[in-house]
Amino acid sequence: MIRKLSIIPALLFTFVGCAQQETNYELRSPGGQNKITFELENERPTYSVSHEDTEVISASEMGFVFRDNDSLSKNFKITDVDRSTFDQTWEQVWGEKSNIRNHYNELLVNLQEKSGKQRKLQVQFRAFDDGIAFRYIFPEQGIKDSIFIMDELTTFNLKQDGKAWWIPAYHEQRYENLYEASPVSTLDTVHTPLTIESDSGLALSFHEANLTDFASMTLFPTSGTELKADLVPWSDGVKVRTTGSFTTPWKTLQIAKEPKDLITSYLILNLNEPNEIEDSSWIEPYKYIGIWWGMHIGKYTFWEGPDHGASTKNAKEHIDYARQLGIDNLLIEGWNKGWTPQWYENHMHQFNFTKSTDDFDLEEVTEYGAKNGVRLVGYHETGSNIDNYLKQLDSAFALYNKVGVRSVKIGHVGSMLNMKEWHHGQYGVNYFRYILKKAADYNLTVYFHEPIKDTGERRTYPNMMAREGGRGIEYNAWSEGNPPSHTAILPFTRFLAGPMDFTAGILDVENKQGYPGRRVHSTSAKQLALLVVVFSPVQMLADLPENYVGKPEFKFLKDVPVNWQDTKVLNGSIGEYITIVRKDIDSDDWYLGSLSNEEARDLEIALDFLDADATYEAEIYADAEGTGMKNNPTKVEISTKEVTSKDKLNLKLGESGGAAIRFKKL
Ligand code: NOJ
Repeated sequence: MIRKLSIIPALLFTFVGCAQQETNYELRSPGGQNKITFELENERPTYSVSHEDTEVISASEMGFVFRDNDSLSKNFKITDVDRSTFDQTWEQVWGEKSNIRNHYNELLVNLQEKSGKQRKLQVQFRAFDDGIAFRYIFPEQGIKDSIFIMDELTTFNLKQDGKAWWIPAYHEQRYENLYEASPVSTLDTVHTPLTIESDSGLALSFHEANLTDFASMTLFPTSGTELKADLVPWSDGVKVRTTGSFTTPWKTLQIAKEPKDLITSYLILNLNEPNEIEDSSWIEPYKYIGIWWGMHIGKYTFWEGPDHGASTKNAKEHIDYARQLGIDNLLIEGWNKGWTPQWYENHMHQFNFTKSTDDFDLEEVTEYGAKNGVRLVGYHETGSNIDNYLKQLDSAFALYNKVGVRSVKIGHVGSMLNMKEWHHGQYGVNYFRYILKKAADYNLTVYFHEPIKDTGERRTYPNMMAREGGRGIEYNAWSEGNPPSHTAILPFTRFLAGPMDFTAGILDVENKQGYPGRRVHSTSAKQLALLVVVFSPVQMLADLPENYVGKPEFKFLKDVPVNWQDTKVLNGSIGEYITIVRKDIDSDDWYLGSLSNEEARDLEIALDFLDADATYEAEIYADAEGTGMKNNPTKVEISTKEVTSKDKLNLKLGESGGAAIRFKKL
């Protein structure tokens, strides 16, 4: 079933290993800038990392502790070492860039305990020009008893301190926290991606790739600037349970000269397996509107009653809106039995995934949608009652197949899955993978809210469209909201993991129909810019559809693609500003999104990313003169201008403002 879309045939050279006497091995990336050194120090495996002349990670520990304090970290000898090199360019089914080069050098170190159980352990290192990665392989070796990993001993002994951008792990709001910046040495236990502006001047980001049948890794400082892996446990304290053998996810460290260059590193995707879905023709990126923001701002309810959002009547009106706006997908939440005003409280809430509410007729709505060229996006809120969901999963997916739904949003509100297990422990990892594969069996694409973090699974299962896994726009509807800097932090942190269903595109940033005092802390032009800054193959135009009707700036939201040939980051500083340009997958047009934190600023942009021999019409959507988050925030000035690659543009961003540009090739 495995299909490889290779553009350049893969080049793989393996250098046959031989029994070694040495205890020290170096591995350099193809361009030579990143170096990993493996050393068996007093029979204990250690590794260190450097970038050019800068030592990034000093000798750090490796290994595991199994049940009964059984340590697999010492008393080792090296039995064999293999080296190889790999170079392949592969094509994404959809993405922020169509062709990705996967070029690395590999070192596989085979270890064996010298006495006692004489167990084997392999450490596989890969050095890329944009970072390094390693994982452990505990090979099949006739161990019959179950294996219980109680701790992972891996440390990341950072040579230098730095400014770490973090969110806390083990939080009831899962990944939905505001990022803070602190010295590495003062961190609590934090999630990855953990991005660090190192005192050495380098930009670093720790994360994982291909998190499969394992617990997710969080990090905490031990002493000074040393971080240690902390695997998220099951409710009984065991970190990972398995039998026979195991392979860990890749531990990744992306290394760049500037934070903005972390964004165009594809190391995480490269460390995932190729596409396993042989025929991916049914997998389509899309934009959508929803009966969604209305619930969050209190205009509608999720549950049945006079203000129920998901009534057949309201659904048909929204289909009419979608057709009028030229958007061909509509999400309707709260359509099924089980919603009550207490739905989000942590208990085993019983949603029904095949029975519609009394005022909603799924067949009638999907048929009306089909007649009008609007497809329904499916919606399952599990309330984290996973047992209840799994029992209904096949019939729920079959129902969606029957009515022509092709993509499902799946939510997991609740502090713990089944009120018991962390979303990011091994149970959660396996649950989310199960749903993803099951959805593929039904030719359904999915995007998860309250998910396990993204570690690049979309390469292997491209029906994994996006995830929430961060504080999205909804917080602005019912809480103090996200501060202006939030969207200038996410591209360097959360978005490094993968696509986010961020739900931008709110034009009425003052929430005139919402709760008093609640608003989106940006200008409307910044909301347009977010459709480029945030990468996701599913993008919600989240405002009430009536707020789009008759608005000239809606044209940008309608035009902007969700699938790209290429992505470049023109400038950026964490928490301050960012400018990204992306080239449409289907045309020669480029799109630009630029945004600022609470400060107004001017940014000069060189247009040298455009084709050299062409003229473009730039359709510019910008904060009108004097516009800022607090001053006339909804005023978007639209202008057009002919430009070439030799030109420069001066973008004037208001306070928490932005600019969005379509460069149409003439
Ligand atoms: C939280 C999700 O993030 C949001 O998109 C959804 O509307 C609510 N849960 C209800 O399921």
